Amino acid sequence: MSAHPGAIRLETLTKAYGSVTALHDVDLEVRAGELLTLVGPSGSGKSTILRLVAGLDRPDSGRILVDGTDVAQVPPHRRAVAMVFQDYALYPHLTVRGNLLFGLRVRRVPRAEADRRARAAAERLGIADLLDRYPDQMSGGQRQRVALARALVREPTVYLLDEPLASLDAQLRFATRADLLAVHRDLGTTMVHVTHDQAEAMTLGDRLAVLDAGRVRQVGPPQQVYDEPADLVVAGFLGSPPMNLVPGGGVLGEAPGLTLGVRPEDLALDPDGPIEATVEAVEALGSEAILLTRCPDGTRLAVRTGPRHGLRAGAGLRLRPDPHRLHRFDTETGQRRRRAEGVDE
Ligand SMILES: Nc1ncnc2c1ncn2[C@@H]1O[C@H](COP(=O)(O)OP(=O)(O)OP(=O)(O)O)[C@@H](O)[C@H]1O
Ligand SMILES: [Mg+2]
Repeated sequence: MSAHPGAIRLETLTKAYGSVTALHDVDLEVRAGELLTLVGPSGSGKSTILRLVAGLDRPDSGRILVDGTDVAQVPPHRRAVAMVFQDYALYPHLTVRGNLLFGLRVRRVPRAEADRRARAAAERLGIADLLDRYPDQMSGGQRQRVALARALVREPTVYLLDEPLASLDAQLRFATRADLLAVHRDLGTTMVHVTHDQAEAMTLGDRLAVLDAGRVRQVGPPQQVYDEPADLVVAGFLGSPPMNLVPGGGVLGEAPGLTLGVRPEDLALDPDGPIEATVEAVEALGSEAILLTRCPDGTRLAVRTGPRHGLRAGAGLRLRPDPHRLHRFDTETGQRRRRAEGVDE
């Protein structure tokens, strides 16, 4: 056991709901004190993983170890785990204060200590002035903060956060993201965090785990996963817009049996570039623009560029892919081809 508690290990976890297999042989390690972000398309099994760790559901097979101990026989309220649900799940008949204190009362935390924790958590998340409100008297974003505060007051060794920022507006989301990172830094507690948001996936976590159809596809530091996606699924999921993928190589260079990929930011506008394309649409995002282009052979390429590109739909242009940023995947297996195999360069 390490100095901090809260190490989680999932071993060949499998879970089916009737004919739907939500998780297939999932192996995943969360280090003590780590903030691990889980991403993946809707229905990929993210919430299922959290529910199994929290003890709200049982796996069909496989093991869940917390600090080396199999928790199969430990009921949810005995696990040192606090979960923030995707839909907040606040008690509607209790005020914010009541919601914060409820879990502590069940666990017989002395009243003064419980009050202290509730106040500290409410202040930390900027909801101290809402303590006497009921859930239906608050906005979605406020409810979400209450749900986060309710997890904080439990002072668990593991936090499981299921899209805890999903219904916040952009500014609050940014601020709460910083709060969450500060909480993690101050408490040093293990956190597993689920998100759909590309920016959160990249910024809010020591490591990123990409899930697809109930399988873990890749785990690693966010930038590494972004720079070297292990397979076509990860390449097509991370990034907004995602990586351009061309089966057979096509305009990116003939590569039979392979699929070549290039990220939108790795395609430069260059009058002498080797790729000819026409702008189909322009997405102006203020700080940058995304050009949706089409090549004469029908290949579509998204290009990220500065906002003052001066191009309109219908304009012709030439593109140059960064040769050091071309990704190669086996079309059949989807697996990344590495340099060691003699395929890169
Ligand atoms: N209680 C249940 N009964 C039946 N099927 C379920 C149940 N819970 C989850 N599933 C199915 O298991 C799969 C994984 O669901 P899960 O909720 O883990 O997905 P998710 O990755 O959290 O998706 P989202 O991003 O939409 O929240 C889905 O196909 C879902 O329909
Ligand atoms: Mg979910």
